[in-house]
Amino acid sequence: MNVLTGVLSDLERVLLSAEDIRARVESLAAQIERDYTGKLITVAALMDGALFFVADLLRQVDLPVHLVTLGASSYHGGTQSSGEVRLQWPPDVSFAGQHVLLLDDILDTGLTLSALHKRIAEEKPASLRTGVLLNKKRPRAHDCPLDYCGFEIADEFVVGYGMDYQGRFRNLPCIGILNP
Ligand code: IMP
Ligand code: MG
Repeated sequence: MNVLTGVLSDLERVLLSAEDIRARVESLAAQIERDYTGKLITVAALMDGALFFVADLLRQVDLPVHLVTLGASSYHGGTQSSGEVRLQWPPDVSFAGQHVLLLDDILDTGLTLSALHKRIAEEKPASLRTGVLLNKKRPRAHDCPLDYCGFEIADEFVVGYGMDYQGRFRNLPCIGILNP
């Protein structure tokens, strides 16, 4: 397998290896499958960060899935949240009466997930749960219920497996900390 030594050389250290991620995503998929048995899941996936997580996760969930991608941005390219979230909401999307699972890459200040959770709840879904691959341990400015979490991590800026710094590093197979 190509190990991407070029992009990996920009990392100070690897936090979660591709194998760590694969194993945890597999167990999350099994948990979701048990919880939603007999239901059609409407997955609302936040782009672009959750792209790789959602792609790997859903391919292991043996249930009918309806996938909707939504856009949200708050970082606008830096390593600190701007405090303001811009939503890209497709005009023809409705979550009314559906079992919605909102998925993102990482929970940081909670601004993004709480804004999306609130917006989707307004549509009166039959149920609404949230999941993230990573949950940063830090004081949360915005409260949001979290139902599925892959890993708890320290409050550091991470890249890889969908997460970017200025649009780069999303294609790293692992998750790591950038060189200062
Ligand atoms: P929050 O709104 O502050 O919770 O931030 C969540 C969003 O910011 C996520 O959807 C990510 O796209 C981005 N984000 C937060 N922390 C990081 C990080 O450490 N690396 C890359 N992106 C991050
Ligand atoms: Mg994001």
